[in-house]
Amino acid sequence: MVYITRKEHFNAAHKLNCLQWSDAQNEKEFGKCANANWHGHNYDLWVTVKGEPDPNTGFIINTQLLSKIVKGVITEKLDHRNLNLDIDLGGLQPSSENLAIWIWNTLRPHIPVGELHSIKLQETENIYVEYFG
Ligand code: NI
Repeated sequence: MVYITRKEHFNAAHKLNCLQWSDAQNEKEFGKCANANWHGHNYDLWVTVKGEPDPNTGFIINTQLLSKIVKGVITEKLDHRNLNLDIDLGGLQPSSENLAIWIWNTLRPHIPVGELHSIKLQETENIYVEYFG
């Protein structure tokens, strides 16, 4: 089994808050991510597909095709959007954790060969999440 990863990028805005909490409690839990007037992140996204190399191409999946799929299904829907208002996360917080799960569930049916192995989503220089399904 071999693993291949394609990296993509998008920028998006969000706000983390619990409506039933006070402003002070939201700020304590979420820090700058609770800012009432939104804020943005520069997200890096790594999509890893696993499989066996094709005998003719040597590829698990053509990375140009994988990039086209990830852009079409994920990053073009998220880039320069408001994750609270423009994306249906089922009422969950637009945290990197929940976003990685949404990306996995949205992307997985579109992977034509091999198998989706992981989603890695980096929100800041110091924080990233990984999801393996
Ligand atoms: Ni944030």
